[in-house]
Amino acid sequence: MAPESLVPATGSLPASHLAVSAYGLNKSFGERPVLQDFTLEMEPGEFVALLGRSGSGKSTFLRVLGALDADASGEVQVPRRRAVVFQEPRLMPWLSVLRNVTIGLPQTRQTVNLGLAALAEVGLERHAQAWPRTLSGGEAQRAALARALVREPQLLLLDEPFGALDALTRIRMHALLRELYRKHRPAVLLVTHDVDEAILLADRVLVLQDGRISMSVEVRLEEPRHRSASGFAALRETLLSELGVVPD
Ligand SMILES: Nc1ncnc2c1ncn2[C@@H]1O[C@H](COP(=O)(O)OP(=O)(O)O)[C@@H](O)[C@H]1O
Ligand SMILES: [Mg+2]
Repeated sequence: MAPESLVPATGSLPASHLAVSAYGLNKSFGERPVLQDFTLEMEPGEFVALLGRSGSGKSTFLRVLGALDADASGEVQVPRRRAVVFQEPRLMPWLSVLRNVTIGLPQTRQTVNLGLAALAEVGLERHAQAWPRTLSGGEAQRAALARALVREPQLLLLDEPFGALDALTRIRMHALLRELYRKHRPAVLLVTHDVDEAILLADRVLVLQDGRISMSVEVRLEEPRHRSASGFAALRETLLSELGVVPD
């Protein structure tokens, strides 16, 4: 993996085998510090969930990793091939679903085939020539996942990707994401405020608080994971209390 430096290195070089190395990140909006000496290392193929209350700086950090925000100080190395999925699918309404998936890539026969394969992986092959407005919310978000997959990312950044979906669709999307992850093994950073989602999907759950990671826990549950698994409730309680919520 060839990491790409986004921010000029200010200290010692991070270990190059890592998928993500972010050291001493600082970011403020006006007087308000959002990231304070924030540090995170991720192994290649590791699935990390970043939990935090609304406004805690989750999206700010994800934007730094995606090079969507060059205005943070510190040291960041991420793989060159990375893709982002946001809460909204962000499909171009004037392009077919297939063209949305392959957007930005050279329009060759090979690209079309890769796009069709990615659509098949998310169960949307029948919608390749459809317009985005004919898709349901869940289908549109699956198209957004296909658009990310077709780039074969070494780092997949997900910013509350299921937050706008209904509960049943979200459950299906969780299963789909887990399946795609097992197959392709990118490093994944999932930003969410949903504790259950974090435990169901990630290998490691972090809590972002006051600009820093205040807790990091490994998730070791049997596959397929479910809420009634032993250990789930205890982990949920630990994370909720760290977030300042009294578990129900
Ligand atoms: N472009 C911006 N200008 C000013 N303040 C911002 C901007 N983007 C985010 N913020 C502020 O930074 C804090 C963190 O935002 P964000 O990273 O979006 O939080 P989260 O994703 O955890 O909900 C919030 O207080 C938010 O209001
Ligand atoms: Mg956010």
